[in-house]
Amino acid sequence: MALAFSLSKDFAVSAIGSMTSKAALLGVEAIVLITVILALHMVIQFLFAKKDEPPVVPYWMPFIGSAIAYGQDPYAFFFRCRQKYGDVFSFILLGKKMTVCLGTQGNDFVLNGRLQDVNAEEIYKNLTTPVFGSGVVYDCSNAILMEQKKFLKFGLTTEALQSYVPLFEGEFYDFLSHSPAFQGFEGSICVTKAMAELTIFMASRTLQGKEVRPKFDSTFAELYHDLDMGFTPVNFMMPWLPLPANRRRDHAQHTLANTYIEIIKARRNLEEGQPLTENDMIWHLMSCRYKNGNPIPDQQIAHMMIALLMAGQHSSSSIASWIMLRLASRPDIAEELYQEQVRVLGPSDKGQMKRLTYEEIGLLNLNSLVVKETLRLHAPIHSIMRAVKLPLTVQTNKPSELESRLYNIPTPHVLLSAPGVTAQSSAHFANPSSWDPHRWEAQPTVKDGDEKVDYGYGLVTKGASSPYLPFGAGRHRCIGEQFAYLQLGTITALMVRQFKLRLADGETDVPKTNYMSLFTRPLDPAIIRWESR
Ligand code: HEM
Ligand SMILES: *[C@@H]1O[C@H](CO)[C@@H](O)[C@H](O)[C@H]1NC(C)=O
Repeated sequence: MALAFSLSKDFAVSAIGSMTSKAALLGVEAIVLITVILALHMVIQFLFAKKDEPPVVPYWMPFIGSAIAYGQDPYAFFFRCRQKYGDVFSFILLGKKMTVCLGTQGNDFVLNGRLQDVNAEEIYKNLTTPVFGSGVVYDCSNAILMEQKKFLKFGLTTEALQSYVPLFEGEFYDFLSHSPAFQGFEGSICVTKAMAELTIFMASRTLQGKEVRPKFDSTFAELYHDLDMGFTPVNFMMPWLPLPANRRRDHAQHTLANTYIEIIKARRNLEEGQPLTENDMIWHLMSCRYKNGNPIPDQQIAHMMIALLMAGQHSSSSIASWIMLRLASRPDIAEELYQEQVRVLGPSDKGQMKRLTYEEIGLLNLNSLVVKETLRLHAPIHSIMRAVKLPLTVQTNKPSELESRLYNIPTPHVLLSAPGVTAQSSAHFANPSSWDPHRWEAQPTVKDGDEKVDYGYGLVTKGASSPYLPFGAGRHRCIGEQFAYLQLGTITALMVRQFKLRLADGETDVPKTNYMSLFTRPLDPAIIRWESR
């Protein structure tokens, strides 16, 4: 050790030759010392690698580990590691050992892990509890989460969804008439900004109810923004930092929660005589009861409403932005979508196509495939994580080995599933990086025989054999899929009906992905040009 140190010190000192000032030398010594420590650290990683555990991606910086490579482009990192190590490997992320399980088997292993083996709330609650509030989602037992998901899922009945379509449409046209970006016959928009506004107006009018919607024109927009700033990756680890942003987050959470509580109280007073007029979530939650017979406390309803707002908003606005960018890059597909509407919904009436209904959106086949294909390439959640609670064994193949082998995964590890990897693999999708909605006409998705399970919130497919899981699988699977499809399908149909889109001048492809945000989205500036039809 001493020898290695003095050798490389001499080497470094002679290499810089003419630099002789004492300060420079001290600096050099520090650099040399650090380099040597890091090199030794690399050697130790190889010497002390545990052969029965998944291979660890080598790293220079203790604690930091592979955070930079993973953070910049998680998919590039996963594909690179998969080539070297196979579907199962570990990497260091800010002091935690992450074990990645790829492939359809890996997706199944993590997402359908047993409750006693793997745990989601331990990972997510630091981030989510200050934003949503106490007592809901990851700030309660899994059994309670399952009941809460049942309440939310059962609030999204077909009848409710049917009633949402005219409201979506109303919000869409209101948005066009008020948004400065859409005045005149043509123009350009920042698509991430436009879609974030449009989707929140639509979701707040439908899911959140008619009292909440007008507040988004004034006070809620800013509060929502402050709350949203709490959704940053650093808050996974240190949610309590006394930063101004965290203070604003907490203030926004309290103010929003109190507003919902007031709405609930006002509705309860109203309920006596007047009939229920809207199919919204607050009404539904007010009538739900836990298995023990208790109604949901008002404060929990408020916190569930905030969770609903945050859960749906980021994914939907990100996918809506990607759809617009993809259509702008493929005017031929946009034209096909327009012709599909003319064909399926009949010729337009006085130059205006008639208003959409829930059933008609279901008939627009290519329109849905555009949503589906965009979710394949741009799923907003790239990493799904679970804390390992009991030692596990996982079976896998290394690329160089024919026989499969077993790895032990001990308890402090965190499991990481990235279903986006199978969705972008050539093993499952021909020419995987090309955006081609028509591919689904030939490729059935989830096999009908796929096993179904009920974790307490209705039947869901286990997705154990599906390479396409943009909404996850297992007990934590998304309950917002139908809502998201309806919202995104409506936006797509209406945008195509109203406008011809193209990429900004000089652009030939869609922007790259921003992986630094918690939910991935197009890297700004994401500009498209529109022209009225
Ligand atoms: C394009 C839109 C969406 C995508 C891609 C998406 C994706 C996902 C994924 C991958 C999960 C699983 C997370 C995990 O296993 O840790 C999930 C869970 C969930 N999503 Fe969504 N989601 C979308 C929209 C929505 C909407 C609109 C809502 C609400 C109406 C919603 C509510 C939820 C809830 C409540 C969970 C359950 C979390 C848990 O059980 O731990 N999502 N979503
Ligand atoms: C949650 O926060 C605590 C306190 O800062 C920290 O010790 C813990 O590691 C965090 N959890 C995760 C999953 O990062």
